[in-house]
Amino acid sequence: MEDRERMSRLVSLLRRRGLVLPSFEIYGGVSGLVDYGPVGASIKRRVVDAWIGHWGSITNVVEIDSPTITPEPVLVASGHVGEFNDKMSECISCGGAFRSDHLVAEFHEAPDTLSSSELDDLIEREGVRCPSCDAFDWKKPMPMNLMFQTSIGAMGGSRTAFLRPETAQGMFMLFPALYRHFRQKLPFGAMQTGRGYRNEISPRQGMIRLREFNMAELEYFIDPDDPPIDDLSKWPDRVCMIPDPDGPHPGEFEMSFKEAFESGIVKHPTVAWFLAMTMEFLEFVGIDRAKVRFRQHAGSEMAHYASDCWDCELMGEHGWVEVVGIANRTCHDLESHEEHSKSSLLRAWRTYEKPVKEKSEVIKPVGSVIGPTFRERAGEVSSALSKLQATPSTFPFELELPDGTIVHIGEDMVNIAVEDSIVSGEYFTPHVIEPAFGIDRIIWHILDHNYMEVDKEGEGYTILSLKPEIAPFDLVVLPLFDKDGMDKMARDILTRINSLRGIIAEIDTSRSIGRRYARADEIGIPWAVTIDHQSLEDNTVTVRRRDDQRQVRTDLDGLIGGLKSGSLSSMF
Ligand code: ATP
Ligand code: GLY
Repeated sequence: MEDRERMSRLVSLLRRRGLVLPSFEIYGGVSGLVDYGPVGASIKRRVVDAWIGHWGSITNVVEIDSPTITPEPVLVASGHVGEFNDKMSECISCGGAFRSDHLVAEFHEAPDTLSSSELDDLIEREGVRCPSCDAFDWKKPMPMNLMFQTSIGAMGGSRTAFLRPETAQGMFMLFPALYRHFRQKLPFGAMQTGRGYRNEISPRQGMIRLREFNMAELEYFIDPDDPPIDDLSKWPDRVCMIPDPDGPHPGEFEMSFKEAFESGIVKHPTVAWFLAMTMEFLEFVGIDRAKVRFRQHAGSEMAHYASDCWDCELMGEHGWVEVVGIANRTCHDLESHEEHSKSSLLRAWRTYEKPVKEKSEVIKPVGSVIGPTFRERAGEVSSALSKLQATPSTFPFELELPDGTIVHIGEDMVNIAVEDSIVSGEYFTPHVIEPAFGIDRIIWHILDHNYMEVDKEGEGYTILSLKPEIAPFDLVVLPLFDKDGMDKMARDILTRINSLRGIIAEIDTSRSIGRRYARADEIGIPWAVTIDHQSLEDNTVTVRRRDDQRQVRTDLDGLIGGLKSGSLSSMF
């Protein structure tokens, strides 16, 4: 009960102060869609920037940006058209639709692993009633694809497409460009932040289950024979780990990532490294480490593309909620796209430690066909063909020229001869380790973990104790009165501060100074600068610290210097 009330006070604060609000509210709203208001959008921007900065600190990771509208064949190959389903139960009495696994959540440990008929049996056996109308009159659970379908183009010429359910496919589509960018050298990664869309069956948990949400994903392409790892002793602190209950290490453990890897609880070195990186990021943005656990998927829970997956779950007002999935996607996506698209560019080259001598097929360009077909580019085509490390298995195949142009090579354009040769390596499909973050769920938990209700002189007082790095504003400027020269001085200071790169300040001239401090504390602004009568005389201001509400007086240069160097705290 107490928790429910805390949650409703938090939600009401988010709405009242313009952090997160229901979308399209004047038309009645749509569940699963939210707006970030003027305060929330700034927090979101900073969390996303922090995420980009964090993963961008791995030297061979770059950012990309791809469309949200995705043609059907891409999502057929990725498996989303066939398998991206949740099971839905429809109430015959009121027509309400519900996720079948959610209906039986209290009767099964892992309800999302159950088949339609197992769900049906459990609903029947437990007499589960409709959460809306209390009837017990269900249609059988049916799989519902979660993607929003659309079409590209008009009328007869249109093609089926979907709004992307994950950003990841954008990185797979760009693999050839990334491979070129990284000079054909693994490992490398591409990250992307942006919207994902899922037509969730019954989203009723605020920011936890949205139909349009903010994702941040990294696809790290590796050679499975040589998986990269970082020095895990950099992260000595312990965290809660819950391995697959059906695996060799059932139970719940408090351990460091190094211990988890060395004991075999986390098998893949790159996965272990990314679990540690994930924890570091979450702490950086203000998540309470004591409310974090990493839980490994059981085989039956795993997404269609993964061979191993760890969820990072956070405890908050909604109980334990998955906010990040760290999956070993193996070669699933690249291999499947290669098969469906017939592209031969989704591979990497592995050089053997020692070249081997063997009889092998060698490609010889047929000049009499290549010349007339490619004209002025015939030389480039022949040269690219001679450099091919392996002969293609099917025709026509795609050949990439040095400037990225793709040409199609037919069977008549080459002769394949078997010769004694020295083979220096082989092509293979890279594997992918993917951390997939849900930014909205993380922001909800940042707000939840940092929402403090304190007693101040006998009255309830709220502080959103956000880390300065993700606070909506770095500082608020408060003229004691909006007149008598304090107004002008406050605006001059605001202009000066906002001209500093990366620092955002706002001004508040609304009501009493006490109420303005209270508003600033409620939206998590770490510093308030007050301009009073004395400021006009000696050019000093009062700096107030949100978390302990202590104040010091400083001159303007001290304030600006402290802001620039991030050392305002040292004045206290
Ligand atoms: P769930 O089991 O809760 O539906 P999921 O396993 O489908 O989540 P993933 O497919 O692993 O989630 O998506 C990656 C991340 O995207 C999740 O960890 C989560 O943070 C976020 N996410 C997924 N679905 C939603 C949603 N409907 N609303 C907000 N965030 C979401
Ligand atoms: N890209 C991971 C996911 O959507 O779950």
